[in-house]
Formats: sequence, C-alpha cells, structure tokens
Amino acid sequence: MNINSDCQPDRELPQTVDLAAEYESSGVADVLRELDEDLIGLEPVKQRIRETAALLLVDRARRDMGLSTETPTLHMSFTGNPGTGKTTVALMMAGLLKRLGYVRKGHLVTVTRDDLVGQYIGHTAPKTKEVLKKAMGGVLFIDEAYYLYKPDNERDYGQEAIEILLQVMENNRDDLVVIMAGYADRMDKFFAANPGFRSRIAHHIEFPDYTDDELLSISELMLDQQNYGFDEEARAAMAEYVSLRRNQPHFANARSIRNALDRARLRQANRLFASNRGSLDAKALSTIEQSDIRQSRVFEGGLDVDRPVVTKASTEGETS
Ligand SMILES: Nc1ncnc2c1ncn2[C@@H]1O[C@H](COP(=O)(O)OP(=O)(O)O)[C@@H](O)[C@H]1O
Ligand SMILES: [Mg+2]
Repeated sequence: MNINSDCQPDRELPQTVDLAAEYESSGVADVLRELDEDLIGLEPVKQRIRETAALLLVDRARRDMGLSTETPTLHMSFTGNPGTGKTTVALMMAGLLKRLGYVRKGHLVTVTRDDLVGQYIGHTAPKTKEVLKKAMGGVLFIDEAYYLYKPDNERDYGQEAIEILLQVMENNRDDLVVIMAGYADRMDKFFAANPGFRSRIAHHIEFPDYTDDELLSISELMLDQQNYGFDEEARAAMAEYVSLRRNQPHFANARSIRNALDRARLRQANRLFASNRGSLDAKALSTIEQSDIRQSRVFEGGLDVDRPVVTKASTEGETS
C-alpha cells in the first residue's frame, strides 16, 4: 500500500488525529460535495459513499498511528438498471480513492467482456493482462461483468479472464480497485456461480431507478450545464415525456433523458433556422420550447424512439 511507502521504521507516529481537518485537506470533502451537487437523488448511494469515505479516512488515520496492518478490500459491485448513474459514480469513486491514497493515479478504465476476452485460443490472457496493466493505480470498471461467465459453453474463454481477474484482485488490491457493474439479478447469479468474486468484493452498492420528478430535475440540470433551459410549457411537456417514456421499450433512466435532450436541441436548432427572419438573442438560442419536446414520437405512442443520435461513445451502455 502506497500510503505507508514513506514510512520510516523509526519515524515518530502521530499521537492524535483531527478527522474533520483531514476530511477537508484530503479533498474528500470536495468529492462528496460534487457528488451531492452534480447528482440528483441517489440518496442511498450517496449515503453508502459517505460511509465508505468515513471508513477509509479512519483507516488511513489508524495506519498513520501504526494501528492498521491489512489493506482493506475495496473491490465493489454497482448494481442497477441502465442509466442509473453507475459509471458516473465510479468516476467519482476513483477520485475519492486517489485522494485517500488508496490508488496512485485515480483513473477509471471502463471495459466489457469484449475488451478482456479474445476470439481465439491464446488471445484472452494477453488481452486481459493488457487491460489490467492500463488500470493499475486506478479503478477497473467492468460493465455487465456477468457476460464473462457463460456456463453453457464449457470452452468459453471468459473463464480464463475470470481466473486472471481473481488472482489480480487478490494480489494487487493495494494498487487496483475493481468495480463490477450490471443488472442486480444477473449479478447475483454471477456471484453465486463464482464465489471467488463474492469473497473478494466487500462493498455492494445498489442504484435505484429514478422517479419521474428526479428525471425531470435531471433534465433541467443537464440543460443548465449546457446553457439551455425550458420555458414553462416545455418543462410541462418534458414532465409528460418522462412519464410516457418510462413505459416504453429500452427505457434507460437518466440516459434516456440525455438522449431526449440531444434530440430536443436538434429540433430547436431546426425550428430557429426555419423560422428566423431577423436576429436572434441569447435567450432565443438557449430556450427549449414545448414543440421541441412534443415532436417526439413518444407522444404518439411511438416505439423505439430512444435511438441515440450521435456517436458510439454516447450509445455506450444504452442496453447495458
Ligand atoms: N443522478 C443523476 N443526476 C444527474 N445526471 C445523472 C444522474 N445519473 C445519471 N446521470 C447522467 O445520465 C447519464 C447516464 O449515466 P451513467 O452513469 O452512464 O449510467 P449507468 O452507468 O448506470 O448506465 C450520464 O450522462 C450521467 O451523467
Ligand atoms: Mg454505464
């Protein structure tokens, strides 16, 4: 553990610790504030992260006084439906672990099965090791981790990746934190079939679906961050959109909201372009009106409206 790397054998140990001062000076307070401000809802998740932060702060203080000897196990599972904030929170967790000195660099490497498992014999081990090398000193986020395990196929190469992961999670836990994410029910089955993971993962955090009100607040926050806003009617239209969208296929919580807003901005731009006869002010350029929302096929009971408009990066995990 790098925390103790500067420990001289005869260095004098501190007699007391001021946890509140440590909390501020380590930057942990900043991360938790960011977590509170940038993420709507998620109260149980925020609570769990505050608790984890407290535990690690105390652990660090104990280390400084020579009271702790074991590196705590920090591997985690994040379970919940798509778009509930798992990847976003993992990024903040990486920042938190860095500030607490549990990982050197604090970067997040996000992978799925295809990044770890090869197509041919002999390809999996080098692939998995390459990913692990990249993630060392940070957090490895394995999205839909259960796809690594395919019990129906006896010769599946996923098993090879699993064995390497288990080994590294045990031996390198002072320099790598693994977060496995996915649907709760599939993750349960995965852990039941792979007890090695269960015993190595100490922290399980569940991400609940957002309520309609939370999704509306999230839409306002997202627009605000891009210097856009709803007028009053558009806000009401968005509230309707949220309640309709929830019951349609491929609903993905906050991600569906982000995609809907991308399309609303597209329609707004087209509306401005088509109707403009003179100069436009900043307000016109930043206001989403109800027609920008109501043109969505969601209002006609349309299906498959949530196909993202842009690149692969933004489609990441839409069905995950
Ligand atoms: N509570 C929240 N408040 C604001 N934005 C959120 C919240 N949860 C998720 N988002 C946004 O929704 C999108 C999808 O979130 P993400 O973390 O990728 O979900 P997941 O990994 O669970 O599928 C991201 O753009 C993220 O910033
Ligand atoms: Mg994700």
